Amino acid sequence: MSIYSTGKNIISLFYALEKAVQVYDLRNDVVTGTAKKFGHILRTLLNIYPQVELVRYREYVFFNKQRLRFEIDGYASLQFIHDKMKQLRIRSLIILPGINEEELILLCLALKKNRDEFPSEFNAKRFAYVRIEYTDAEEETPDFLADGQRVKRIYFKALKVTKNLMNNLWKNQSVDVKSSKRVVHSLVNALSQDEFGLLALTAIKNFDEYTYNHSLNVGILALALAQRIGFSKKSLAKIGTAGILHDIGKVSIPRDLIYKPTRLSEQEWDILKHHSEYGVKQIIKTRGLDETGITSLIVAYQHHWNYDFSGYPFHGKETLQSTFAKIVRICDSYDAMTTARIYQPVPYIPSIAIRVIWKLSGQCFDPLLAKVFIQLLGLYPIGSCLEMSDSFVGLVIGQNEGYPTQPTVKIVATMQKDSIDGPIIDLSVDKGHKIIRAVYPQQYNINPADHLT
Ligand SMILES: [Fe+2]
Ligand SMILES: [Fe+2]
Repeated sequence: MSIYSTGKNIISLFYALEKAVQVYDLRNDVVTGTAKKFGHILRTLLNIYPQVELVRYREYVFFNKQRLRFEIDGYASLQFIHDKMKQLRIRSLIILPGINEEELILLCLALKKNRDEFPSEFNAKRFAYVRIEYTDAEEETPDFLADGQRVKRIYFKALKVTKNLMNNLWKNQSVDVKSSKRVVHSLVNALSQDEFGLLALTAIKNFDEYTYNHSLNVGILALALAQRIGFSKKSLAKIGTAGILHDIGKVSIPRDLIYKPTRLSEQEWDILKHHSEYGVKQIIKTRGLDETGITSLIVAYQHHWNYDFSGYPFHGKETLQSTFAKIVRICDSYDAMTTARIYQPVPYIPSIAIRVIWKLSGQCFDPLLAKVFIQLLGLYPIGSCLEMSDSFVGLVIGQNEGYPTQPTVKIVATMQKDSIDGPIIDLSVDKGHKIIRAVYPQQYNINPADHLT
């Protein structure tokens, strides 16, 4: 097991034990069993390392110097440990060889105290194998970071709901329509508060979770585009739902075909193309025929139709494509192009995908909508990695309205591939820096997720 996954494991056991001591009697099997597992993994690690150290710095948690990322898997536990350390002003928590279950349980009990009581409670217990270091000054979270946290929570919640929805349909089990409705409403609200924060999260692609990530990203991109063209709140909720459900018909296609590790044959593509029609059936089954249901099934059916009347399923020129479907057509193509998949292991650089959208506007995409989409994402969308004129490498973290070629970037590496924690530069204001070209982040060992979450 890598140090990274061991770290995630430790965080989830820590969280489980902290929860268990709050709910159960200390002799309860859940408490002792969790403490045992937690103690075991720590002792195994302490055979290799002199200590196990969790450090919180700003919004990040580091486990033995490795930053742990907020991912769907283990999100709640990492968030909990982060918030707990922040609340109690703990900078680092160090566990030393010799740690036993008894001290782990005592530690979790002490962590229940508030920030004023915790230091004396911790000292009173005279821990032999646990050390705590505190942050010196009060560290207030700036508002923009707090907003980012909220948006992130909404995104991951939405991802979880999308995943449950698709998995339940796949297994032919009933689905929780209420929670998907709630999630779409929270996305609509989040979008009005922090459009770029939400768009930044769509730039983080997760290869293993392609189907869910893609569905949610299309929903968010469609929402953002619809908001730009002035859709009402009610219509936003419809397009958000329709975007999330656009590929829902794929649950009617054998899973081995969806996840086939090699290139699909022509016949297999033909089977896959039926997901548009299957989507209609699935949506009627799941949502019924309320207004949002009807919009969603139209989008599912038409989302592979092109502006020039080509595309599938075959349709004549007399049937017009709905605006909702035209929006999803663009967002679906952009997200698919920029994501690595089995049959596209190297995805398009976002700025190239934007150029493809532009090139195919009037052919695949509605030209007006394509234009608004490009204005929304900019020519260098969030998550783009840019070589700069001053020999640094920057990551786009925001757009500047009216300046599609001058986004805001964070300097994250040198051209020699050394990662650095550089400044944030608004290129629309600071004219001293020029973009040379967009590159793949892997070229500079950059993981955009490290800077966008
Ligand atoms: Fe599709
Ligand atoms: Fe799709």
